[in-house]
Amino acid sequence: MIEQTAEQIKNKLGKLKPEILIILGSGLGSLGDSIENKIIIPYNELAAFPQIHIQGHKGQLIAGSLNGKDVLCMQGRIHLYEGHDPQIINSVIKAFRLIGIKKLIVTNAAGSLRTDLKPGSIMLIKDHINFSGRNPLIGPNDDKYGPRFPDMSNAYDRNLRELAAQTAKQLDIPLQEGTYLMVSGPNFETAAEIKAFALLGADAVGMSTVPEVICAVHSEIKVLGFSVITNFGTGLRSGVQSHKETLREGEKAAQNLTKLVTSVIGEL
Ligand code: HPA
Repeated sequence: MIEQTAEQIKNKLGKLKPEILIILGSGLGSLGDSIENKIIIPYNELAAFPQIHIQGHKGQLIAGSLNGKDVLCMQGRIHLYEGHDPQIINSVIKAFRLIGIKKLIVTNAAGSLRTDLKPGSIMLIKDHINFSGRNPLIGPNDDKYGPRFPDMSNAYDRNLRELAAQTAKQLDIPLQEGTYLMVSGPNFETAAEIKAFALLGADAVGMSTVPEVICAVHSEIKVLGFSVITNFGTGLRSGVQSHKETLREGEKAAQNLTKLVTSVIGEL
C-alpha cells in the first residue's frame, strides 16, 4: 500500500522532485493557492488515503513550485475525529518519505491556553504533548522506515525553528514559541480541561498535527510546525472578545504565516 501510493504520486510529478511537504491547517488554504505550475492529485486517486469525505476540505495533493523550491502540499487533513485510523497517517507519511520528502512544514489552528497568547498570534511549535490517546506507530514496525522506539528529543527541529525565528524577525512578523497539546476532539474542551492542560505545560490546544509529526520523526523527516491561534481556550477569555475580531485577527495571522512559510521555504 505504501509503495503503491508512492508510485502513484511519482507518476504524477513529472520532473518535480519535492523534498518539502506542507500540511495546511484550516484557514491557510491561500498558501496552496500561491503554488505555481500546480499539479493536482485528488486523494481518491491514491491508495493509502482515506476514500471518504474529509470535512470542510478539498482532499488533494498540490505539487508545484513555491519561492523557487519544488513542494508537495496536503490540502485537506486526515483528522482522527472523523473516525480515521491513525495508521492511515503513518502509511501516507511513509509514502511521502519514499518519494524523497525530507522536510515537513505543518500548520494548524489552535486554541490558546495563556492569556498573553492572543487570538491572531502565530505560535512556533517547540514541542508537543500527545493527549489524543492514539498513536499512529502502534502495530508491527517496519525497520526499513524507522526504529521501533523513535527518539522525540528534537521532534520540532532546532535548526528549522531558529531559521523560522530569524525569518520572522526580518519580516517583522510577531512569533511566539510554545508547546502544542493534541486532543482527539471533536468537542471543544471544558474549562477544567483547559486549566489542566495549561498546568501540564502546554500553551495551545488543537485536534491535529501530532500524528503527522510522530510519523515524520519516525522516518527521519525534519519538522517545522506553526499554530495560528484562533481563540482562547474555554473559560480563559479575559475581557471582551468579539467573534468578528477573532476572525479578522485569524485572517491577518494566516496571511502573515503564508508570508513567513513562503520565505522560509526559500531558505531551505
Ligand atoms: N480547541 C481545540 N482545537 C481547536 C481550538 C480549541 O480551542 N481552536 C482551534 N482548534
